[in-house]
Amino acid sequence: MKRILTATLALAAMVPAFAEDLSGEKVYNYTCIVCHGNGLLHAPPKGDKQRWAKLIKEGLDEIVPAALHGERAMPPKGNNPNLSDMEVARAVVYMANAGGGKFAEPTAADVVRWREKADAKRLKHEKHRKHDGREKYEKLEKK
Ligand code: HEC
Repeated sequence: MKRILTATLALAAMVPAFAEDLSGEKVYNYTCIVCHGNGLLHAPPKGDKQRWAKLIKEGLDEIVPAALHGERAMPPKGNNPNLSDMEVARAVVYMANAGGGKFAEPTAADVVRWREKADAKRLKHEKHRKHDGREKYEKLEKK
C-alpha cells in the first residue's frame, strides 16, 4: 500500500511539470495564433515564407529574445506571462520552421542565453513602453 501511495504521489508531482512543458505547436495554438494566425497588427503569419525568411536569417539569437521581451507591436511572451521561456522559444522554433527554417528544438543552455539577451533589452527599454507591444495591445483589448 505504502509503495502504491508513494508511486501515486510521485506521479501527481509530475503532472504540473508536464502541464508547464507545452510543445511549440500547443503554445502556438493557445497564444501566438491570435496574431500570427492571420497577421493581426502586422505579425508575421505562420507559414508565410516571405515574411519568415528575413527572421530566419536573423536567427534565433535575435528573434527569441524579441519574443521574450517584446518588440514593437509584439507583446512580451505574446501577452501570456504564464508561458515559460522554454515554451516561448519552442513556439518561435515551431513558427520559424513552418516558414521554411530548419531549427532544432531549443536546449536549456539556449534558453538561458536568450533570457539574458531579453533582460538586456528590457533594461534598455524600461522607460519606453512603446518599444514593446504592451501599449498597442492594451489599446486593442479596450476596443
Ligand atoms: C498581440 C499579438 C501577438 C501575439 C499574441 C504574439 N505575437 Fe509575435 N509578433 C506580433 C507582431 C505584431 C510582430 C511584428 C513586430 C514587428 O516587427 O513590428 C510579432 C513578431 C514576432 C516575432 C519576430 C520578432 C522579430 O525579431 O522581429 C517572433 C519571433 C514572434 N512574434 C513570436 C511570437 C510567439 C512565440 C508568440 C506566442 C507565444 C507570439 N509571437 C504571439 C504580435 C503578436
